[in-house]
Amino acid sequence: MKIMVIAGSPTAESRTRGIAQFAAESLNQMNVEVLYFDVGMDKLPLFTGDATTAQNETVKKLAEYAEQADGFFVTSPEYHSGISGALKNALDFLGGKHFKNKPSAIAVAAGGGKGGMNALTNLRTVLRGVYSLVLPDQFVADPVNFDEGNVLVDELAQTRVRELTLQLKELTEAISVNQVK
Ligand SMILES: Cc1cc2nc3c(=O)[nH]c(=O)nc-3n(C[C@H](O)[C@H](O)[C@H](O)COP(=O)(O)O)c2cc1C
Repeated sequence: MKIMVIAGSPTAESRTRGIAQFAAESLNQMNVEVLYFDVGMDKLPLFTGDATTAQNETVKKLAEYAEQADGFFVTSPEYHSGISGALKNALDFLGGKHFKNKPSAIAVAAGGGKGGMNALTNLRTVLRGVYSLVLPDQFVADPVNFDEGNVLVDELAQTRVRELTLQLKELTEAISVNQVK
């Protein structure tokens, strides 16, 4: 089983990446093969609809990972009550052929003060738009959940991300066994 983990922040110092890396480690520990894509490091061109961008090496990597993946763990920062433009740009290169009937788990880094829900709902809507099966459970991390190096260190936050990865693995397995297409 392969799970694509998407780190959805464009920033060099990113808390979202801290969530994505913790999720990837958790999946590795469950013997799941992780395909890791980070929109802050794997720099994509702007989606324009121009077919020639499909030849871009980073676009190819994104599409190949998404095609191979049996499920997705998608993370984003909350920016102005939505997901990052960088993540939305990445998802615009993909579609139903990559996501249909494949589960996704979603998690967001927010600014504290009860932020995060709007980005989660926005991400859920976008993933519904590509026909992914988004898990009902979801997670928001606040800045206090990370150390100064943006590692997710808070134990309760770690437990929540571990739970999400387990739910994702179990649903992805169940769907693969039944070969839902
Ligand atoms: C442009 C911008 C807009 C933001 N808007 C929100 C917001 O609407 N709600 C919120 O809770 N936090 C907001 N934040 C705070 C970020 O969500 C928070 O710092 C998060 O940890 C950033 O993740 P990153 O380090 O992976 O980019 C905003 C930050 C920036 C830079």
